[in-house]
Amino acid sequence: MILVAGATGRLGGLITRSLLARGEEVRALVRNLAESPGLTAAGASLTVGDLKDPPSLAEACADAEAVITTANSMARGGSDTVESVDRTGNLNLIDAAAAHGVKRFIFISALGAALESPSPFLRAKATAEQRLHESGMRVTILQPNLYFELLPVAAVGLPALAGRPVTLVGEGRRLHSSVSMADVAGYALAALDHDDAAGQTLVIGGPKPVSWRDVIAAFEDELGREIPVSFVPMGAVVPGLPPMLVDLLTALETYDTPLDMSQLSDRFGIQPTALQTFVHGFVASYRQEGQPAAR
Ligand SMILES: NC(=O)c1ccc[n+]([C@@H]2O[C@H](COP(=O)([O-])OP(=O)(O)OC[C@H]3O[C@@H](n4cnc5c(N)ncnc54)[C@H](OP(=O)(O)O)[C@@H]3O)[C@@H](O)[C@H]2O)c1
Repeated sequence: MILVAGATGRLGGLITRSLLARGEEVRALVRNLAESPGLTAAGASLTVGDLKDPPSLAEACADAEAVITTANSMARGGSDTVESVDRTGNLNLIDAAAAHGVKRFIFISALGAALESPSPFLRAKATAEQRLHESGMRVTILQPNLYFELLPVAAVGLPALAGRPVTLVGEGRRLHSSVSMADVAGYALAALDHDDAAGQTLVIGGPKPVSWRDVIAAFEDELGREIPVSFVPMGAVVPGLPPMLVDLLTALETYDTPLDMSQLSDRFGIQPTALQTFVHGFVASYRQEGQPAAR
């Protein structure tokens, strides 16, 4: 049985459904039984727990052969903080898993995780990575680059679909190997199957580095119309985007993150999702459901 923490979230939900689809027994860590009917209907068993509550994690980890966690505080709030969830909560989960004889642990970290990072979130991820290396479990750490589902959707896709102009910071020429969540889910499952993935940290990006201008062009192609775009200097306001995403957009204008994924995708048999393919699926799903196709 595989325990998935974060199963009510976007990537965790994708991983849970993919595991169930290939016949795995999945236990999903949830905080509220009533809010997770989709997981039960898909065939997962549920266990109630919280990364901030170590006794609940002991119960969740009992009899689990493997743990996969995507849980994080970023889109939450209140008592779920970087300190309580991404740092201490992850350590709680790792310790509970190790204490209950879990053999395999797949941790979704993030590109740039480092103990000396200026970002508390990336420091917390690195602290969890360090604890995992000391845990004695067979560990695979995935360090994905930014997801297509986050900024390209929030900064370009949603305003464009709503007929609003797009505002970007800087010149929009920086190159980042953004990646689809489907690819990350694919690597998480492949890591379970590949013995040689144990003890490894896999840096994950999409098939090709893309700039903001590429993202806009992909949406223009898909929508069949020009998208009005304005570029504002660093530090300026970006209408409609929360400050956290504006900060991220601004930071991304100061460096590039091109990654060559050819070897890793061959090794794990992952067919990487191209930007245009993601945009096509996102727009189709948005039109069908009238909402973002993040899940
Ligand atoms: N977004 C990016 O571009 C990016 C890039 C690199 C890596 N990542 C990493 O990718 C992973 C997946 O992100 P996502 O977008 O799928 O996340 P998400 O949709 O925001 O889901 C967050 C999940 O974490 C759970 N969670 C939060 N606090 C918890 C707690 N105290 N106890 C138990 N569960 C808790 C949530 O449960 P509830 O529903 O109960 O709140 C939910 O299932 C994360 O680890 C993230 O750091 C993201």
